[in-house]
Amino acid sequence: MTSLSLNARSYWDNRAQVFEKQFELAPVRRKVIQRIIEIAKPKSDEIFVDIGMGTARLFTEGAQHFKAARDLVGVDISPEMAEIAKSRMKDHGFSNFEAHVGQFTSLPIETGSVDCVLSSMVMHHMDNSEKQLAIAEVKRILHPQGRIVVADQLDCFQQEVSEDEFREAMYQTFSLDPTTQTRSSKNFGHREHTIKIGEFCNLWTSAGFSVHQEVLDDVIGIVYSQ
Ligand SMILES: C[S@@+](CC[C@H](N)C(=O)[O-])C[C@H]1O[C@@H](n2cnc3c(N)ncnc32)[C@H](O)[C@@H]1O
Repeated sequence: MTSLSLNARSYWDNRAQVFEKQFELAPVRRKVIQRIIEIAKPKSDEIFVDIGMGTARLFTEGAQHFKAARDLVGVDISPEMAEIAKSRMKDHGFSNFEAHVGQFTSLPIETGSVDCVLSSMVMHHMDNSEKQLAIAEVKRILHPQGRIVVADQLDCFQQEVSEDEFREAMYQTFSLDPTTQTRSSKNFGHREHTIKIGEFCNLWTSAGFSVHQEVLDDVIGIVYSQ
């Protein structure tokens, strides 16, 4: 593991408990997850992978859809997130879930084995070259008819906005307190590389995906294939 990855891992390990507790405080997080599920239209007997699954909210919020899936796999860089995810999935009565500690850019998943890759609010923590590696990994693990639904923090403003204006909008959308956020964003291991939604789509298209985009908010977009 590189030192950047180790820093990211310890950052998310330290954040995991608080992150889970804050879920109800930011209704937009549930909105993002629900929209991902609506677009993905999960079918029984499919294999789903949630990359950067955090505390597995995506699967538990969509329990009525995902309980019948053949396999649910979560991958996260943080062992602490993976532990919380396993315990929450057990509490919700899932028997088809496995959690892996691993990186988006090097997924511990067999080539061509997955029906649908999901991810929520993860890729903006990687720079563009890491995003390209991550997208190549998604392509590798999907079978040829496989699909993606990826939501992320993206610049979806119609007009140009400054970094400060974007950050202000992001704090509002996620109901974040700017004071604690500024402190946490200065933490070792916290990385943000937010790009425009069009640029994000281009990265997927360049890797051979045919994608659609949906703007959920000025600071959140969803990119998906069908
Ligand atoms: C903002 S949280 C989102 C969690 C979850 N997807 C959700 O929407 O509730 C970002 C998650 O991505 C994970 N993560 C960050 N960088 C990662 C990477 N390079 N590979 C895998 N997971 C990563 C973090 O540990 C954290 O759980």
